[in-house]
Amino acid sequence: MNYRHAYHAGNFADLQKHAILLAVLEALKARSPSLSVIDTHAGAGGYDLSGEMARRSGEADAGIFRLLQEADAPAVFAPLIAAVRAMNGGRDGPLYPGSPLLIAGALRREDRYTACELRDDDFDLLRRSLAPYAFAQASKADGYETAAARAGRGGRAFILIDPPFERPDDYARIVEVTRQALQRDPAAVLAIWTPLKDLETFDAFVRGLETVTNDALVAEVRLRPLLDPMKMNGSTMVLVGAPPEVEPAVRTATEWIVRNLGQAGGAARVWRTSA
Ligand SMILES: C[S@@+](CC[C@H](N)C(=O)[O-])C[C@H]1O[C@@H](n2cnc3c(N)ncnc32)[C@H](O)[C@@H]1O
Repeated sequence: MNYRHAYHAGNFADLQKHAILLAVLEALKARSPSLSVIDTHAGAGGYDLSGEMARRSGEADAGIFRLLQEADAPAVFAPLIAAVRAMNGGRDGPLYPGSPLLIAGALRREDRYTACELRDDDFDLLRRSLAPYAFAQASKADGYETAAARAGRGGRAFILIDPPFERPDDYARIVEVTRQALQRDPAAVLAIWTPLKDLETFDAFVRGLETVTNDALVAEVRLRPLLDPMKMNGSTMVLVGAPPEVEPAVRTATEWIVRNLGQAGGAARVWRTSA
């Protein structure tokens, strides 16, 4: 496992993932007295964007730093911007929350949160990030196995799946864990992040997902036309079983990112699989 999220934290894909994550959490809190959130691939918890890895990639410049400059950013980004400023003592600054700090900051005492991370170094950081939150547990375990085993064990399941896609079987494992989670908790909600390199890979994934659910909302950020499959040309968030009221927020976040961070020929596509 070579992937370190510190190189990519706060980039355009994190903006899409994290803004939508917070919108889904708000909708689920309004509907469910208790949630059981499982973050299958949690990373370090939070990131210092002035650190060497983030500076070397510079990806946050066309991400969170651009968003923070926007006086009239759409409301869907307000919870993310507030979380970033809170982490930086109320100002704009270099600290950026990963999914663990965003989730832990949004949850209530009656909710439960399990964050899985396999790398020793990132797990240590994750454990320290989550130490202040009594309802949160950092787990050095495989995220897919944990999600499949824990969904439906009290509280409505909400599963964030955000792998590094270093392994050829990640897409197949996501489909399988979706099947298992829905079997254990038919009301489970899943938020799945994927890179967008070429359409064939993504279409095959969606077709696989359609074998286990007919309720998926797909949000594609195409930063540029998908001509070079070796490049990360965009990202997607796929929501399974999400409350319909999140759709406008998903659409707004996806369109803003393409309009403001995309290149010529970029496109935002938000669509539902067959109902
Ligand atoms: C894309 S990063 C996570 C970023 C995080 N979700 C966020 O938004 O801040 C993926 C992480 O998954 C970890 N990882 C890889 N395979 C895993 C597995 N099977 N179970 C748990 N963690 C895994 C990697 O070490 C890496 O830190």
